[in-house]
Amino acid sequence: MVFRQAAWDEALLRDLSRPGRVGYVPPLPIGEETDLSLPGGLLRDSVELPSLTELQVVRHFVRLSQMNYSVDTGMYPLGSCTMKFNPKLDDRVASNPRLEGAHPYQHADGVQGILSALWEVSEALARVAGMDRVSLLPAAGAQGEFAGVLMMKKYHEVHGAASRTEIIIPDSAHGTNPASAAMAGLDVITVPSDSRGMVDLDRLKGLVGPRTAGMMMTVPNTLGLFERDVLKISELVHKGGGLMYYDGANMNAILGRVRPGDLGFDVVHMNIHKTFSTPHGGGGPGAGPVGVKSFLADYLPVPLLEKKGGRLAWRRDLPHTIGHLKGGYGNTGVLVRALAYLLTLGPGGLADVSGQAVLASNYLLKKLSREHYAVPFAQGTPRKHEFVVSAKPIARRGGSALKVSKALLDEGVHSPTVYFPLIVEEALMVEPTESEPLENLDRFAESMNAIARTAMEEPAKLENLPKKSSIGNLDEARASHPLTLKLTWKRKGPGQ
Ligand SMILES: Cc1ncc(COP(=O)(O)O)c(C=O)c1O
Repeated sequence: MVFRQAAWDEALLRDLSRPGRVGYVPPLPIGEETDLSLPGGLLRDSVELPSLTELQVVRHFVRLSQMNYSVDTGMYPLGSCTMKFNPKLDDRVASNPRLEGAHPYQHADGVQGILSALWEVSEALARVAGMDRVSLLPAAGAQGEFAGVLMMKKYHEVHGAASRTEIIIPDSAHGTNPASAAMAGLDVITVPSDSRGMVDLDRLKGLVGPRTAGMMMTVPNTLGLFERDVLKISELVHKGGGLMYYDGANMNAILGRVRPGDLGFDVVHMNIHKTFSTPHGGGGPGAGPVGVKSFLADYLPVPLLEKKGGRLAWRRDLPHTIGHLKGGYGNTGVLVRALAYLLTLGPGGLADVSGQAVLASNYLLKKLSREHYAVPFAQGTPRKHEFVVSAKPIARRGGSALKVSKALLDEGVHSPTVYFPLIVEEALMVEPTESEPLENLDRFAESMNAIARTAMEEPAKLENLPKKSSIGNLDEARASHPLTLKLTWKRKGPGQ
């Protein structure tokens, strides 16, 4: 397959606009007495929307979509993002007009069906994570983290231990972990990784103390390694009076096999837009439900869904709640998609997902040339759903992880995550997910190895790539520095 992406020189809709062009005329009111006209005060003389035919609009957006890259177009091995295929059936379920048309503040009695779907998904997620209660409110993993650490902080305050303000976070963690803890007003203490790429237990022992509010961990960690000492770590932190937070971004690796609640975690967030059928990224809505063990249930954000005598309602009077997080009741469409996903797979299907994801990751790692892609930490240890290699051998010849990833774009493959985790130089973090057929894994490995050979033998060929994508090689400094953050559109004042 030869890749060449469409490159339309597409104008903005407002530049295509011509006065008098019309795309759609709303139907006239039926019956003479029906008066659907708006009150005079709400009427405008003109609406500044472009005037276009329907065909122009359709072509515009189809062309733009052809210049885009997505999981529906090709492989997307972006580590830590779980860019897997999300069944179209789940989209169909979530686009039910009765769901889409409901108002978020409709009275609970009129939306018992939707509330029962939300209740089902919160119960299912609690079972998957080994937690007792789940709040569906957070709109992203990072917001779930923020809610989680606020609960941990408040728990200590309520128990007369407001001086517990330190949160321990491994140096391999995602940046949102320390950011969420700092936003919650906690002090971040970094625990280093040991030579196995796992939390250094001895160093951790020296960090847990009377000021410890808790610890945040990602299991498997961002190197794709299962933290073997996780039970010892939970015990150590609990004995020291702290709580354990599980960053669920990597749940695709353990789904249906291990539950964070059984590993000693007290609070968990789950990235629905990775693991449970909504694609991560692209700025679309996400969901980062946060789950807790029963002793923290009264700290959850409000409103919290409750079932009493078969009726579902929102509870707002939790005694120790951290308060409101966002408007509405969570991103319902994303959550309903997750329910459809969980129900179609069932417990056995979920275990298959993680099994296939881990198998694909280890298969791919084995096929990459060791001469060019070094494996940092624990060389012989199998990885979970993702792995990290270092392009350092290539960098010695003037190449880099960035150049490899740009060359991959010309092969019709999205780049892996680069330069993360921070503890690996020239990091390429690859997560193939369970969705890719074997041929695609082989093709990806062949492309990576061929690019590496080019980097060593003819490094000049890796300059100024990509050439086949709709947007070619960007001037990185210009692309990030003269940032245009404001779209100017001349607005007419009243009467003009
Ligand atoms: C390990 C890890 N933790 C937390 C997050 C934050 O999740 P979100 O992007 O949903 O805010 C990510 C995001 O990719 C992640 O990879």
